[in-house]
Amino acid sequence: MEKNLDVLVSAEDIQKRIATLARQIQQDFSGRQLVVVGVLKGAFIFMADLVRHIKMPLACDFLRVSSYEKDQSTGVVRMDFDMTQPIAGKDVLLIEDIVDSGRTLSYLLKHLETKKPASLKVCSLLYKETGAQIKNRVDYIGFDIPNRYVVGYGLDSEGLYRSLPYVGAFKGS
Ligand code: IMP
Repeated sequence: MEKNLDVLVSAEDIQKRIATLARQIQQDFSGRQLVVVGVLKGAFIFMADLVRHIKMPLACDFLRVSSYEKDQSTGVVRMDFDMTQPIAGKDVLLIEDIVDSGRTLSYLLKHLETKKPASLKVCSLLYKETGAQIKNRVDYIGFDIPNRYVVGYGLDSEGLYRSLPYVGAFKGS
C-alpha cells in the first residue's frame, strides 16, 4: 500500500459493489442492445471489471475527454477523441470514473444525445460530495466519497497511481 494515501474504498469493496451493479444493469437492460461507452482514461479499469460481470451480449466503445491539468480542473472540457460506432437507436450506458463538478458529464450527455440513442444511462464508480446538481442524471453510483482528490483504480495524479486496486486520497488532503 502507498504510505502517502488513505484508503477510501478497498479493493474488496470495489469488487463486491461491481458485482451488485452488474446484476442491476443486467436486469435493467435485459433483451436490449446495450452499448457500453467508457470515458478514457479514468474509467478503463472500472469498465473492464464491470463488463465482465454483465452476462449478456454487449458492445464496447470509448471516447476521451480532458479537463484537468496538474490535478486541477481547467473548467473547459475538450474532446480528445470520439467513439467510433453509431449509437442511433441503441441503449447506451456511459461509464465514468468519477463525477466531481459534473461539467464533464453534462458535456458528454449533450454530446451523446446528438447521436440519437434509444436511451442514455450513466454509471459512475465514484460520486464526489461537491454539491454538483447532476446526481439525478447518474443512474448507477458505486460509492459516494468526500470532497478529496482521489487516485487509484483508474484515477490518476499527474498520470500516476491508475493501477492501484483500491481508491485512496492523499493524506492531509
Ligand atoms: P468533473 O467534470 O469536475 O465532474 O470531473 C470529472 C473528471 O475529472 C473525471 O472524469 C476525472 O478524470 C477528473 N477528476 C475529478 N476529480 C478527480 C479526483 O479526485 N481524482 C482524479 N481525477 C479526478
